[in-house]
Amino acid sequence: MFKEDKQNKIFGRRKGKKLSNLQQKNLDKYINEFSIFPSDNDNIPKLKKINPYNLFNDLRIMDIRLEIGFGMGDFLFEKALSFPNVGFIGCEIFENGVASLLNKIIKYKISNLRIHFGNCLDLIYNLNLSTLNEIYVLFPDPWPKNKHKKRRFFNENNAFYLCSLLEKNGTINIATDIDDYAAQILGIMKKKKNFDLINSNLFQNEISNIRNFNTKYEKKAIDSGRNTNYLIFKKKYE
Ligand SMILES: C[S@@+](CC[C@H](N)C(=O)[O-])C[C@H]1O[C@@H](n2cnc3c(N)ncnc32)[C@H](O)[C@@H]1O
Repeated sequence: MFKEDKQNKIFGRRKGKKLSNLQQKNLDKYINEFSIFPSDNDNIPKLKKINPYNLFNDLRIMDIRLEIGFGMGDFLFEKALSFPNVGFIGCEIFENGVASLLNKIIKYKISNLRIHFGNCLDLIYNLNLSTLNEIYVLFPDPWPKNKHKKRRFFNENNAFYLCSLLEKNGTINIATDIDDYAAQILGIMKKKKNFDLINSNLFQNEISNIRNFNTKYEKKAIDSGRNTNYLIFKKKYE
């Protein structure tokens, strides 16, 4: 499933416990049907530039929303179920997460959700500009040690790409329970004159819930009493 080069290196786990028979069967049988970049027989996604609206040709889609690193896919699944006229796209490298979301897509016959099982960079480099209404980056891998911080997803370069994918009035929604990562994100976004910080509880000393995304890692943060920083930025103009 993965083709990697040095520049776009993937960090983090790709496999966990063995998939159930049903998960394996669904993954083998349906992943191409719900993939943003279907593969040939070699199982390597065929990357190409895409207009995300074309992924949902048979539906009347109002807008498109993207989640980076959807983990077990709970947030995307809930949203796709609640908003059938919105096209949801998500990417994830962790096989168990992809299999778990795919099972729900099949079980609940979800038609407005597409997946990229692979590196999120391959996705964001290939989406047409100004096509997304919302982007979610929920609890990105924290890489807290100084020597690993350069592995963090939200850096200047990736933020540049993400921001260019948003249409006017589109929002980028970020959550992290790592304070210095939140500060890093804010520092990067403050330099963008065409974005406003429209909501944040940054560094408040309370367990705040300005947003509740109900993801596995949000629950982990709440259970261990860690405060989550939520940041929402809106694009004012192209
Ligand atoms: C800390 S988890 C958070 C998962 C989920 N958003 C949540 O809140 O529960 C970060 C996720 O990002 C995924 N991830 C890390 N690097 C990635 C990459 N290059 N492309 C796609 N997903 C990635 C990981 O596999 C992991 O599932």
